[in-house]
Amino acid sequence: MAKTYKIAVVPGDGTGPEVTAEAVKVLKTAANKFKFKADLTTFDFGGERYKRTGETLPDSAVQDLRKFDAILLGAIGHPDVPPGILEKGILLKMRFELDQYINLRPVKLYPGVETPLKNKGPHDIDFVVVRENSGDAYTGTGGVTMKGTPNEVAVQSAVYTRFQVDRCLKYAFEYARKFGKKARGRGEKNTLALCGKTNVLTYIYGLWERAFHEMGQAQYPDITREYYHVDATTMWFVKNPEWFDVIVTGNLFGDIITDLGAMIQGGMGIAAGGNINPDSGGVSMFEPIGGSAPKYTGKNVINPLAAICAAQMMLASLGQDKAANAIEQAVMWATANKLKSLAAGKMGYSTTEVGDLIATKVAE
Ligand code: IPM
Ligand code: MN
Repeated sequence: MAKTYKIAVVPGDGTGPEVTAEAVKVLKTAANKFKFKADLTTFDFGGERYKRTGETLPDSAVQDLRKFDAILLGAIGHPDVPPGILEKGILLKMRFELDQYINLRPVKLYPGVETPLKNKGPHDIDFVVVRENSGDAYTGTGGVTMKGTPNEVAVQSAVYTRFQVDRCLKYAFEYARKFGKKARGRGEKNTLALCGKTNVLTYIYGLWERAFHEMGQAQYPDITREYYHVDATTMWFVKNPEWFDVIVTGNLFGDIITDLGAMIQGGMGIAAGGNINPDSGGVSMFEPIGGSAPKYTGKNVINPLAAICAAQMMLASLGQDKAANAIEQAVMWATANKLKSLAAGKMGYSTTEVGDLIATKVAE
């Protein structure tokens, strides 16, 4: 009997519904072709619902989401809602409540895609960031006193426990062993680089660094270990991206360096990520990492490839490797041979046409 996956779809705000529709189109095509079933349920969490009801992501919805095999998200963010409300109330709440403690962000330049880096091609830009997704300044406590006065004090602490660090490192080492450059036939060794700031954040990244070497020495002697400060990491992303294989880092640094990563792989039109709970029974969420792009909303011009790549990552995490691979191959075919640019309105195709291109290729 065909395997059935229960997928929660959260199209969200702005261009989210447009790109999600194309990702769903491709997902359904892949299900047909590779003989599995995708049982989709759509949820309306986002800015419009918040404006209507004052609700972001109710606790009951979190309980509902636990019953799914995976979640596919479009975009969260609304021009009429002040920053922080939807991000914290929906996106971060989902990540924390479902304990999606890994944020996996591949940075891969597909053929035909323009990168702002001079003299760099697909062979050079091909690495993955494993961003810790459950701690750091995102969940540390804090507050302000004497607000609005010249003496205002603001504190927001970065917090990590050994447990959080170890489980993230374990995922990253395992990932490097399975999907590092050697494992993929792209080099002599599988490398895991820790990106930190051990010269200033001595407590936090001191912990990361000790845990990194202890685990690496004891359990992953086959994985080459490297260390980069975060500021230097941004420099090398631009100058020598080919040095990187798998990178592991904390939540905040990971947030920042993956936006830079998205730019060097061709922009938000193509960048996808997975918020992963790798534990058994864990529910993971996959999303294009760009925002809701209000100015392109409803125009059928936004690039759906990032959302399609998110669906591809979702299928890989569900164990549908053949389907995931077919989608990635179709995306690479489209970037190499079809799309004029990845930028909204400049692709040479509409949003729906790009979805059709990929779906047709997957079905072949
Ligand atoms: C991301 C986003 C989020 C983050 C925001 C919207 C809370 O920038 O997914 O990278 O900081 O994690
Ligand atoms: Mn971000």
